[in-house]
Amino acid sequence: MTFPINRMRRLRTSENLRSMVRETHLTVKDFIYPLFVRYGVDKKIPMQSMPGVFQFSVDQLKAEINEINSLGVPAVLLFGIPEYKDGLASSGYDEHGVVQEAIRAIKDICPDLLVITDVCLCEYMDHGHCGIVQADGTINNDASLELLAREALSHVQAGADIVAPSDMMDGRVGYIRNILDTEGYNQIPIMAYAAKYSSAFYGPFREAAESAPKFGNRKTYQMDPANILEALREVELDIQEGADIVMVKPALAYLDVLKAVKDKFGYPTAAYNVSGEYAMVKAAAAQGWIDGDAAMMEILVGIKRAGADMIITYAAKDVAKIIG
Ligand code: PBG
Repeated sequence: MTFPINRMRRLRTSENLRSMVRETHLTVKDFIYPLFVRYGVDKKIPMQSMPGVFQFSVDQLKAEINEINSLGVPAVLLFGIPEYKDGLASSGYDEHGVVQEAIRAIKDICPDLLVITDVCLCEYMDHGHCGIVQADGTINNDASLELLAREALSHVQAGADIVAPSDMMDGRVGYIRNILDTEGYNQIPIMAYAAKYSSAFYGPFREAAESAPKFGNRKTYQMDPANILEALREVELDIQEGADIVMVKPALAYLDVLKAVKDKFGYPTAAYNVSGEYAMVKAAAAQGWIDGDAAMMEILVGIKRAGADMIITYAAKDVAKIIG
């Protein structure tokens, strides 16, 4: 059947009709909101390249957490800006580290809000890399696993609901799973940054998390943007090692990867709509070049349509206010 019997525009004539045939629905329950927690007191520092995003000291979290919760956003993802950094990322697994204290504070304010923690070493290392750097400048994969596992365990001991390793060291999901199980935390899920690309879109985040590498780049551990078959192998390995949720990151330039991962594995799949993706929309909107809210909704619905079950996005609060 073809035109004029078939007219695609018939189902587009009103908003009510369009809503009845809509295939993809964004809800606030799709979102995970990233939060940057910083050492010190009385700090709420705005991020230049991410309008609307702040670093919070732990004592300043209350209003923010209550707002996130009252908007219905189900989860936050924590990143820490510690007081000190060294060559062993020791502030990352200090039981009184900034993330550990923030977890306790959030659980106190709002016990039901899911607290996911980013598990990585770059924020706590003086050189800003995601693993232990050796004398020749290379990264010692296997020695880094021990530190990552200590960090994950200390987050869980402080009350984290889910841990999310983002370092891209080989074997870390299995290593973390083993330590958590041994220590009595076999019910804590792992959300693995499984296909994490070496991306230019992390720029604003590195300002916010103060975690830019001091030398070199992350190309020996994060993935080459050109590769999708390798992404499927990464995801498969993380699932074999015990990942409960797999992530593709960034989102926009990798929607094909997201779809392939969802189709092939059918696992709960997260997409990270990263800092640079957020900043681009905000910057263009500030110039008056695009409608920022509409563009953000379009991006997020596209990520969901491609296969994301959950979306980590800095726009979670803004969009929650729009979609209610
Ligand atoms: C830590 C980490 C990064 C992001 C999340 N976890 C930065 C990086 O890998 O350099 C980026 C998030 C974003 O850009 O929003 N390794």
